[in-house]
Amino acid sequence: MPSHSVIFDNSYICGMSKQNAIVMSGIRPTGFLHLGNYFGAMRNYVKLQEEYTCFFMVADLHALTTHPDTKELKSNVHRVLAENIACGIDPDKAALYCQSHIRETSELYLYLNMLAYLGELEKTTTFKDKARLQPDNINAGLLTYPVLQAADIILHRATWVPVGKDQEQHLEMARNFVNRFNHRYGNVFPEPMAYNFGDDLVKVPSLDGTGKMSKSENQLATLYLADSDDMIVKKVMKAKTDSGPTEPNSTKPDYIENIFQLMRLVSSADVVLHFEKAFNECNIRYGDMKKQLAEDMVKFISPIREKAEDIRTNEKYLTAIMEKGAEKARKSASDTMHLVREAMGLNY
Ligand code: TYM
Repeated sequence: MPSHSVIFDNSYICGMSKQNAIVMSGIRPTGFLHLGNYFGAMRNYVKLQEEYTCFFMVADLHALTTHPDTKELKSNVHRVLAENIACGIDPDKAALYCQSHIRETSELYLYLNMLAYLGELEKTTTFKDKARLQPDNINAGLLTYPVLQAADIILHRATWVPVGKDQEQHLEMARNFVNRFNHRYGNVFPEPMAYNFGDDLVKVPSLDGTGKMSKSENQLATLYLADSDDMIVKKVMKAKTDSGPTEPNSTKPDYIENIFQLMRLVSSADVVLHFEKAFNECNIRYGDMKKQLAEDMVKFISPIREKAEDIRTNEKYLTAIMEKGAEKARKSASDTMHLVREAMGLNY
């Protein structure tokens, strides 16, 4: 049973008004950001910042679990910040900061590690995937990756976490850690939930129909926000198709559904409807469809690329933004850690 006073009641949080919601999310600086990062995460950041208290960060500590070489880290952190701003994050509205600048994260991570069990950490899908990819570097940081992520989120007592589908399990683990903490020490943390405007969490598929778009894998089948117009056209035109359906209203094969899904993200409703109809009537020309998709994709990506390119090398500007974001984040982190130390009885 909790031995310390209840700091607040979780039932209040369940009925919490939207106005009070705190939003938190992060992106690792492990490569170029892509369409999956945009539609899974950043599109939601941009909408949420208008109404809620938002904390968005570059997860440089998480990057160390897979990318221990820090030579490129600074420029990667700058790139992710620049791309966030180019996608519409307003550093005057949301706190935009770098994970390692908030030392309280590491303290909370340590406490949460005592509430995380080896068995559950070993079973995490992302751990198993990464361990397979780097058999010579299965480090403890990789194992406790979801614990650090939970610390990032609950450090601000956030309830909404805009992320893509691949992060669902990490959020479920964060809720488990929260419940264990609250049960043992008293209610300090609300339960965080994965968040998306719309019904389901998003998974943006790769162009070759195998898996999802990714920063480091499947690069020719991933559309990056930094891709040149020519590169975008080349990648889209190479997407796998076939000779088209022979029966009206057939089910789409996965690789065709993927092309439609990408089109739904960037093309107008009329355009999508036109190709849906052509598919259902068995007169679709995939060459035309890909040309249209490439054109709409270029229109979508090129302004982001150009804006990010302008900002990326402006170190003074980016440093000022990171510092301003860190100040806001430190204030919130220090308030939470005060409650945590009190609740845990570490107040002597
Ligand atoms: P990361 O850097 O892999 O991805 C950043 C965000 O992009 C989303 N995403 C996708 N969404 C849809 N389709 C895709 N193909 C796709 N690929 C990536 C991810 O779901 C994520 O929202 N562990 C996190 C970083 C993190 C974090 C946090 C997130 C660290 N601390 C605290 C939220 C809260 C990660 O690796 O994201």
